[in-house]
Amino acid sequence: MPADQPRVNPWVRRLSLLWLNLRKPFVEKRARRLVLESIDGIPFLVFPEVLNPVLFRGGSLLARTVAGNPFAEPPQGVENPLALDMGTGSGAAAVSAARRGFQVVAVDLNPHAVRCARVNALVNRLEDRIEVRHGDLFQPLQGERFDLVLFNPPFYRGAPRDQEFDLAWRGEDVLERFAKGLLKVLKPNGRALLLLSTEGDGHSLLRTLDDRKLAIQVLERRNFGNEIMTVYGVEKRL
Ligand SMILES: C[S@@+](CC[C@H](N)C(=O)[O-])C[C@H]1O[C@@H](n2cnc3c(N)ncnc32)[C@H](O)[C@@H]1O
Repeated sequence: MPADQPRVNPWVRRLSLLWLNLRKPFVEKRARRLVLESIDGIPFLVFPEVLNPVLFRGGSLLARTVAGNPFAEPPQGVENPLALDMGTGSGAAAVSAARRGFQVVAVDLNPHAVRCARVNALVNRLEDRIEVRHGDLFQPLQGERFDLVLFNPPFYRGAPRDQEFDLAWRGEDVLERFAKGLLKVLKPNGRALLLLSTEGDGHSLLRTLDDRKLAIQVLERRNFGNEIMTVYGVEKRL
């Protein structure tokens, strides 16, 4: 596990939360309604019941890392590289992976997210490269193994208040169940990109991953004041 687990400066966090509170009315206007967003010119419709990847920053950071980081490059010599976008939400990371050359399976438990990601595959003319499935974590998979697995998980602990929007924030044992299943769905040279925040309990995912079998590195990190988001790269140890 990376030794440099980031820490937010408590004073900066307080100021930043004050600023976020002032912006709340504007944020709320965009958060729970149908909006058209874009990440580096790539358009995304975000349904009201789905986490906005731009507004809440994690989705766009993950999508950009998938688009540009060498760690997420399709492996050489593999004819049809496969990616899994777990908890796809609006499908932003799935679109990035498909644009990079992966055939993508995207999964979400929120049925609105499934429809939203399908729409965004169509909007970006990637419907042949992205298949969106409904279900709980690895359950909708059909024995596939992946070259790349992506996950921006719910960071907070607890029972989700509904089976739609709140699923993006809260989970009881999603982190542990994902960590337990990850090795089984990675190809021998497969890699994973995990987006975690200093908010909530997301970093427990790294503690749960079996670090005898997996090597973890920091790929991207952004300090937003109230929270620090990090994209970790995970691969099997040789
Ligand atoms: C933090 S959001 C990330 C959404 C999107 N990937 C992004 O980065 O903008 C977490 C996503 O995981 C989904 N999710 C939560 N629990 C899940 C589960 N058990 N199985 C599949 N998806 C789940 C939520 O519905 C939500 O879309």
